[in-house]
Amino acid sequence: MPASAETKTEKRFDEKLLDIYNGAATTLMISIGHRTGLFDKMAEIGAASIEQLAKATSLNERYVREWLDSMTVSGIVNYDAEQKSYTLPPDHAHLLIRSSGKDNLAVFAQYVSVMANVEDEIIECFHKGGGVPYSSYKRFHEVMAEDSGQSLVPALLETVLPLVDGLVAKLDQGIEVMDIGCGRGLALMRMAKAFPKSKFVGYDLCDETVAFATKEAKSRGLSNLTFEVRDVSALGDVEKFDFITAFDAIHDQAQPQTVLNNISKALKTTGTFLMQDIDASSHVENNLNHPLGPFLYAVSCMHCMTVSLAQNGEGLGTMWGRETAKTYLERAGFKSVVIEKLNHDIQNCIYVATK
Ligand SMILES: C[S@@+](CC[C@H](N)C(=O)[O-])C[C@H]1O[C@@H](n2cnc3c(N)ncnc32)[C@H](O)[C@@H]1O
Repeated sequence: MPASAETKTEKRFDEKLLDIYNGAATTLMISIGHRTGLFDKMAEIGAASIEQLAKATSLNERYVREWLDSMTVSGIVNYDAEQKSYTLPPDHAHLLIRSSGKDNLAVFAQYVSVMANVEDEIIECFHKGGGVPYSSYKRFHEVMAEDSGQSLVPALLETVLPLVDGLVAKLDQGIEVMDIGCGRGLALMRMAKAFPKSKFVGYDLCDETVAFATKEAKSRGLSNLTFEVRDVSALGDVEKFDFITAFDAIHDQAQPQTVLNNISKALKTTGTFLMQDIDASSHVENNLNHPLGPFLYAVSCMHCMTVSLAQNGEGLGTMWGRETAKTYLERAGFKSVVIEKLNHDIQNCIYVATK
């Protein structure tokens, strides 16, 4: 083990395994609590019986009871046996309800269900190689947009864009901006609204997300923003953009180096590339105490690595890490790469790269 490697404090292994299984099962129930609005309603109405909560949410009473008991034994909800009432304590509610914005961790629980849906296809890949395509993932784009909509979008203007010296002033004056792998395009919509003199374009492989983004931008009256279905591994633009962004969209590319080379070519010499990507080390021995280590390696195997391999890609994986990311950016011709960590985001760091 290299000198920089971390050591991990271990629990007894049988206890640890049971914690893991209980945690995994509870994660599915948290996802359900989020999607059904049960957490939001519990926070709103306070102590309630099964019947009251079922009525208030218009959900089936028998299912609500089982869910509440699961939440109770997992220590998320408190149960008063005398009153037969259930309460979501305010400090727990804060981490589980929509109105908490970036602090709502319930959103992330949905990734476990999204991944579990493709387990059979992943097992086949373990035997035969290859990968699972984006199209196999039910709800991926919806969950991704919900995630970035709460963790990135609200922080974009105040903390993310100011990482680039003088950028906000340039956006105010009017510049050309491209976002690659834009998904449902919420980050671009936020920028397009704030900077009406600038022109924004978002590219994504997936027709469904581009159609969603186009419709949403139109309904918001954003005329300085367009979306296109486009594979950014064949970009072809030369010195066209002043500012290019990629939010969690490089590590799952089929050809990440080609995409970074294309971004570098498409950027004016005075321009900046801002890449938000997963914050980790490229070396597993340095990730032993990563707060999301097990979660992110699983997301990699069950999604990010495999969607790349499905396109005969490199399969970099979610945990490609700072060291590899820096090397790829430098190879693409970025002479300066500054890595920033922001408090609002436990998952990512931001690379500010210039040529
Ligand atoms: C992890 S999602 C991130 C979406 C969005 N940036 C966000 O933060 O919500 C990655 C996105 O990159 C898109 N993508 C992957 N490879 C691409 C390629 N070669 N060209 C364009 N889009 C690509 C996927 O369709 C997906 O929407």
